[in-house]
Amino acid sequence: MKKIKVEVKDVSKSFSKVDEGKPLPVIQNVSFNVYDGEFLCIVGSSGCGKTTILRVIAGLQQADSGEVLLDGNKIELTSSKIGMVFQEFALFPWRTVQKNVEFGLEYKHLPPEEREKLAKKFISMVGLSGYENSFPHQLSGGMKQRVAIARALVNDPDVLLMDEPFGALDAQTRNILQDELLRIWAETKKTIIFITHNVDEAVYLGDRVMVLTKRPAKIKKEFKIALSRRRSRTNIEFVMLRKEILDELMKEINIQSLPST
Ligand SMILES: Nc1ncnc2c1ncn2[C@@H]1O[C@H](COP(=O)(O)OP(=O)(O)OP(=O)(O)O)[C@@H](O)[C@H]1O
Ligand SMILES: [Mg+2]
Repeated sequence: MKKIKVEVKDVSKSFSKVDEGKPLPVIQNVSFNVYDGEFLCIVGSSGCGKTTILRVIAGLQQADSGEVLLDGNKIELTSSKIGMVFQEFALFPWRTVQKNVEFGLEYKHLPPEEREKLAKKFISMVGLSGYENSFPHQLSGGMKQRVAIARALVNDPDVLLMDEPFGALDAQTRNILQDELLRIWAETKKTIIFITHNVDEAVYLGDRVMVLTKRPAKIKKEFKIALSRRRSRTNIEFVMLRKEILDELMKEINIQSLPST
């Protein structure tokens, strides 16, 4: 049995609604484990509470009840054991690629040459050697997300939280970055929790796919993806799993609430 890395225990979270003053329940009694070295994908419809779950795990958002444990201990806000790649391109526009990646190391009291060397190693790992002195506005969307991944990895986190990191990319770039992420995951053996609303992406990447209900998010169903790595999207088992998961997800999207065309 694999070691449990992250334990999400009965977490609930509501936000106070600004207009009506009524609380808006966003996560309801969510419990799950993530195993050491596992690639867990979480899919859910838009606005169901995916980012909120990830922010609670990262310690960026306090749960109303329940708790999250990392290696059996409560997560500290400043823990470098957790790295996060955000939904939008969250780079510092005034910093170069090199300085963006070095950012997390600046609190670690490393000598500057050590910092520089480490940052270069991860810039190379995400395929951006030669762009160290570029600024974010000089990069494509795919390159920006590579920088964000390098910036998260440079701190050597045990767990990498990724919030729809490829959502804003075109289909080809997205596929290339998925393969690169799998390579990096195999190389670094990190535990990854990856949020997406794209079922194809979840089946391609995940050891396991968890489907959430619409808001307030609860766990609806879990799928073990027992396909070998180097997956083929045209493999019949892949196609069937994708359909099964998509069907689950579609049940959570209220078609009647969509505008008619
Ligand atoms: N800080 C906040 N204050 C008030 N309401 C919030 C806050 N953060 C999120 N919400 C609300 O919680 C709900 C879930 O938001 P969340 O960002 O977790 O959804 P999501 O599943 O990540 O959506 P998307 O697919 O669009 O990224 C939304 O209705 C949102 O308006
Ligand atoms: Mg989100």
